[in-house]
Parts: sequence; structure tokens; C-alpha cells
Amino acid sequence: MINAKTKLYALIGKPVEHSLSPAIHNPLFKKYNINSVYLAFEVDDLEIAIEGVRGLKISGLNITLPYKEKILPFLDELSEEAEAIGSVNTVINRKGKLIGYNTDGIGALRALERFTNVKDKRVLILGAGGAGKAIAYTLSKLAEVVVLNRTERKAKALERFGVKGEKLNKENLSRYLTWAEIVINATSVGMNEDKSVVPEEFLRKGLVVFDIVYSPLETKLLREAKQRECLTIDGLWMLVYQGAESFRLWTGIKANIEFMRKKALEALEGGSI
Ligand code: ATR
Repeated sequence: MINAKTKLYALIGKPVEHSLSPAIHNPLFKKYNINSVYLAFEVDDLEIAIEGVRGLKISGLNITLPYKEKILPFLDELSEEAEAIGSVNTVINRKGKLIGYNTDGIGALRALERFTNVKDKRVLILGAGGAGKAIAYTLSKLAEVVVLNRTERKAKALERFGVKGEKLNKENLSRYLTWAEIVINATSVGMNEDKSVVPEEFLRKGLVVFDIVYSPLETKLLREAKQRECLTIDGLWMLVYQGAESFRLWTGIKANIEFMRKKALEALEGGSI
């Protein structure tokens, strides 16, 4: 029940109306008897929004596009990974101090670990945007990582994490897909479109193919990977594991992943995105 003690958690971004996060976190608060609510706010002026967070003592935040990098100067402290990546998707309000975290990398790692071993594996990441960067940082600590990106400069910039960064083109794709044991699509290619960043003929049996795109749930990449007998992992796993990490940071509770995925699927299928 909502009462005078109810705490507020918020998503800040623009746009936010297609986010699945409220449909995941509100059922979690209920399941674990936490007197909190989660709402999405479409924000035009980030600085004013953060003043509001401080003024209203909002307990925690998720940050989405286009503010994941822009929020950094407004925070009081950053976790090690948020600082290294330069991007924040989760904020805790600890007694008035706003602390920024990034759960994208750990979310991707947990999703992968559900299906396969990651340690010392050869991992090819496609995309060096916000998500690709976070995943490259986290995986670089335990695996051998190559990042290919359309804009070569952004792939090269990740070499500071000890990964190899090169241009995303057919030749490199062919070469590194022969080398890789795991491939991750961290580009937006395939989102609400029937396109794939990987030519089907480059996919071979036994390769682990992880797409961070979750709309549609079965992207062209995953469909073709299944046809080629790859092990496939959809983007909803990444979404729920990174959300579970945020929830753990806010509440200390290790949330039930199957429950979160069920709620996310219901919201997806119910057409709320
Ligand atoms: P996110 O936060 O979801 O990662 P982003 O930061 O906008 O979103 O990153 C989008 C990624 O998809 C980038 O790596 C982008 O490549 P560029 O850095 O060259 O822009 C990649 N991307 C988008 N459209 C693409 C396309 N048609 N082909 C290849 N890569 C594409």
C-alpha cells in the first residue's frame, strides 16, 4: 500500500514511455514487501531534475538515454566501473549523497554466465556505444576481448581497457568470428527492424551468440544463429540481470531473475513498449 512512508525510485531519460523498468521494479518491491514505488520521468533539463531528486530525497534512479554520460558532473561519487566507462545507469541516494554506478557490464556478464563459461574465453563485441563500452570493460577483466565498431575511433578508445579495438567491416567480422567463442551484438542493429550486423554465413555451430537488442525478442541475428545451431541468448536476459543489479544496489536484495523475466515478458507482450 502506498502511504506516507513510501519511498520513490525513478527512471530519468527522454523518451521513457517504452521502458520496461517500471513493469519489473514495481512487482519486485511488492514481492519483497518493500514500501517503494518506481516511476518513469521524461526529463528535459537534467540539472533541474537532479535538484528535484535531492530536494525530494528520491531514493534511487535509473538513468537512460540521453543522460547516461551527461549526469556524471551532477553526482557526488562514482563507482569504479562508472568512472572507467564514463557512464551511469544507476544512482543511489545515500543520505543525500548521489552515487553513480553502471550495471550494464555486470548485467551482460551475468546473462552470459547463465548459459556458458566466460572466463578466459575469446569474446567478440560488436559496437562501442554506451552498452558496448560497459560490456567491454567488464569482460576485459576475465576474458580475451576484441571490439569492432562502425566508427573505428570509438573501438580504438577502448584499448585503454586492454581490449583490441578495430573497425567493424566484413573482413574483420569474418576474421574475428572464426577466432571468437562468444559474439555479442551491442549495436542497435536489429532493434525493431529485420536486419543483422553479422552475415549468416559467418555463424558456425557451437558459437555463443548474445544479442542485447530485446525488441524483437528474436532478432534476425538470433534467428539465423539458431538455424546455424549456435547457442543463443536474447537481450531480455541482459535487461533483467542489469535491472537485478540495480535492485540489489538499492535494496541489498538478490532478486529472482525468472520472476523479473516473466514480468518483463508480460509487459513486452502486453504491448506496453
Ligand atoms: P547504446 O547505449 O544502446 O549502446 P549508442 O551509444 O547510441 O547506444 O550505441 C549504438 C551502437 O550501435 C554504436 O556502436 C553504433 O556505432 P557507431 O559508434 O559507429 O555509431 C552502432 N550502430 C548503430 N547503427 C549501426 C549500423 N547501421 N551499423 C553498425 N553499427 C551501428
